[in-house]
Amino acid sequence: MSDNNKLVYCSFCNTHKDLVTKLIVSDNVAICSDCIELCNQLILEENKTDTEDKANKIDAFSIKQHLDKHVIGQDRAKIALSVAIANHYKRINGDPPKDIEIAKSNVLMIGPTGSGKTLLAKSVAKYLNVPFVVADATSLTEAGYVGDDVETMIAMLLAMSDGDIELAEKGIVFIDEIDKIARKGESTSITRDVSGEGVQQALLKLVEGTKCRVSALGKRKNPNSDTIEVDTKNILFIAGGAFVGLNEILRSRVIGSSIGFGAEVKSKDTSVDLRLVTPDDLTKFGMIPEFIGRFTTTVSLEELNKPELIRILTQIKNSFIDQYKYIFSLDGVNLEFTQEAIDQIAENCIVLKTGARGLHSEVERVLLPHMFHISRYTEHGITELTITQEMVIDPKEIYLP
Ligand SMILES: Nc1ncnc2c1ncn2[C@@H]1O[C@H](COP(=O)(O)OP(=O)(O)OP(=O)(O)O)[C@@H](O)[C@H]1O
Ligand SMILES: [Mg+2]
Repeated sequence: MSDNNKLVYCSFCNTHKDLVTKLIVSDNVAICSDCIELCNQLILEENKTDTEDKANKIDAFSIKQHLDKHVIGQDRAKIALSVAIANHYKRINGDPPKDIEIAKSNVLMIGPTGSGKTLLAKSVAKYLNVPFVVADATSLTEAGYVGDDVETMIAMLLAMSDGDIELAEKGIVFIDEIDKIARKGESTSITRDVSGEGVQQALLKLVEGTKCRVSALGKRKNPNSDTIEVDTKNILFIAGGAFVGLNEILRSRVIGSSIGFGAEVKSKDTSVDLRLVTPDDLTKFGMIPEFIGRFTTTVSLEELNKPELIRILTQIKNSFIDQYKYIFSLDGVNLEFTQEAIDQIAENCIVLKTGARGLHSEVERVLLPHMFHISRYTEHGITELTITQEMVIDPKEIYLP
């Protein structure tokens, strides 16, 4: 058979071109319309199982990839958190043999202010598409005291799930500022410590897994209103805090004991690796051992460095600079920053130790005089505003005659 003859047959099913609707021919292969149709179906089915797989499989690697898009730096923390989350959902979605029960492992995030603790937790919840609430530990109290008792967090989760109990029971509760409920020193036991140890005690049962009753609409508990039972066994609790002072505890344990000649070299600023934190250090800080025991995964975040701060300022979607550019554009002014200005802003945050949280207030501080005078700028036909390093160091409006 000559080459030309061959191309009147489909190379896949060998049917003659006269017997099919269409035969598409290239230099040396041909495919008929029936085979194209079949291939199409195969591709569609493959895609479908792909997305179904993704929905059922929460794997650490994909979580980390997602986090990389939203959180700059903090690689180690991202890996540890991704693994913890993946294991948590393996535990609740899996079907382990009867004699194996995977223990619940809540997550404790330790890291300086503005390093991305809340952002990490939020980004994870968004990826998993599970209900997520952020509760502030400082507003929590033991039952019976003025304030929100700890079950309010579960009520909030239920409200977030539109009352769907099953969904709420797989949610994530992020307890922020957990370090603020540390016991205040050894001697405070004379007066009952309302916001500290008592709250830690109250949280124990909840984070370990208990059936608690919460009011339906996320309202405060009221004996007359209908309450709903929610099992917290599969709710993942992530607690986060800056733990200011933990550094010193760590340092005195790790370096302090070896103080002797040459101790002056160890300046107060020697930073110690937060990865070295032990439950004992946290107990010294004021967390009760039973509480720490229920947060088996500890994730430590580092202070963001200057290049990371610059990336946060300029590269992430909806960065602070983008937000202000938009605000200025509303008055017809195109806002730009020189590289030196951006450098200086990042540098200021390093000095102030405010992390990425400081970026926002720095940009705000720098732009404030310009925002105040914006109408005068437009009256004078100013359409371009470039922020220079000097304008960061000494923010003031442009001189207009
Ligand atoms: N690693 C990061 N990558 C990108 N943005 C970040 C990062 N860290 C912080 N930010 C930004 O800085 C702001 C504060 O971050 P976040 O609330 O996560 O800090 P935090 O660690 O929880 O601090 P705090 O202890 O004060 O609560 C947010 O706007 C967040 O988007
Ligand atoms: Mg926070």
